Amino acid sequence: MGIIISGIGSYVPEKVLTNADLEKMVETSDEWIRSRTGIEERRVAADEQATSDLAYAAALRALEDADTQAEELDVIIVASITVDQVFPSTACILQKKLGASRAFCFDLEAACSGLVYSLEVGQSLLKSNHRYKKILVIGAEKLSSIVDWSDRNTCVLFGDGAAAVVIERDAERDDCILSTSLGSDGNHTEVLNIPAGGSRIPASEQTVAERLHYIRMAGRDVFKLAVNAMVSSSKEVMEEAGVTSEQIKWLVPHQANYRILKAVAQRLHIPEERVYMNLNRFGNTSAASIGLCLDEIARDKLVSTGDYVLLTAFGGGLTWGSILLKW
Ligand code: COA
Repeated sequence: MGIIISGIGSYVPEKVLTNADLEKMVETSDEWIRSRTGIEERRVAADEQATSDLAYAAALRALEDADTQAEELDVIIVASITVDQVFPSTACILQKKLGASRAFCFDLEAACSGLVYSLEVGQSLLKSNHRYKKILVIGAEKLSSIVDWSDRNTCVLFGDGAAAVVIERDAERDDCILSTSLGSDGNHTEVLNIPAGGSRIPASEQTVAERLHYIRMAGRDVFKLAVNAMVSSSKEVMEEAGVTSEQIKWLVPHQANYRILKAVAQRLHIPEERVYMNLNRFGNTSAASIGLCLDEIARDKLVSTGDYVLLTAFGGGLTWGSILLKW
């Protein structure tokens, strides 16, 4: 009896925002953005689309891929830092859209590590309670709603999107998640955050005037911390499973920045052609990014049964984590 990924689906909004578009909005250049980040364009949701709408579109595709009806779901976990409302949870809002009446639903906040965290929580639920058979795990973000479009340090980096994964028990197969390593370090909350809007600094006219509801980031600090955390957790999961870098078919890192991914791959001795990247098209979509990659890898048949796929993520919190999959 193993826990398998039975379906994957993703969705990105139609509207494309190119680097050339950003040149008209802030003092930047296509050359600067490409050379510092590898990003060429990103998707931006329509005003009327909330995160749950992006999640819904991705969820329908994942359910179809898994040949599963929404009513069969036992749990829905939505990982997001751009929830529809502070409460109720976006997972509950999504439940209604899907008609997944049997499921219990909750949001999980681990910033860009959200999908990796949620996969671990989901598989733990399946393992610990045999009443649960099918779980929908989603990373969904409308980052355009929390990006300061006048801040060139951050607005060039992020994009909107959603990715959904169905995990379930399968009597015929072995576990597809071989090993997991998650970590957090609350000593670095200041390097990546949104200062206001919570109980510490509730929303007020002043917080709006001071633009405290947007992402703040110390880019260079994040860069260094990200590389170290992703490398060490990746090493841990490979060691635990007895799998070497040479055996990894795909390294699927959180799509933060091309230079971060390159540094991680180098330190793990994984050649660049085995590092999956789509950040040139989507930018950093936080909790959605790894799922967007997995969906493309599966749809384009870039992976076969038995291949090792290494997921690694890093985000605000700090949070980080790696998961080694056997496809
Ligand atoms: N266009 C043009 N210039 C820009 C710019 C932009 N969009 N954004 C910043 N700059 C300027 C800075 O103001 C700075 O100018 P200064 O030297 O006059 O002050 C200069 O470019 C260099 O900035 P620096 O911070 O040294 O650039 P960098 O090489 O560290 O790259 C990041 C900046 C943000 C791309 C990089 O630090 C990064 O990717 N960090 C990680 C971010 C991330 O992934 N966050 C999410 C994690 S989940």
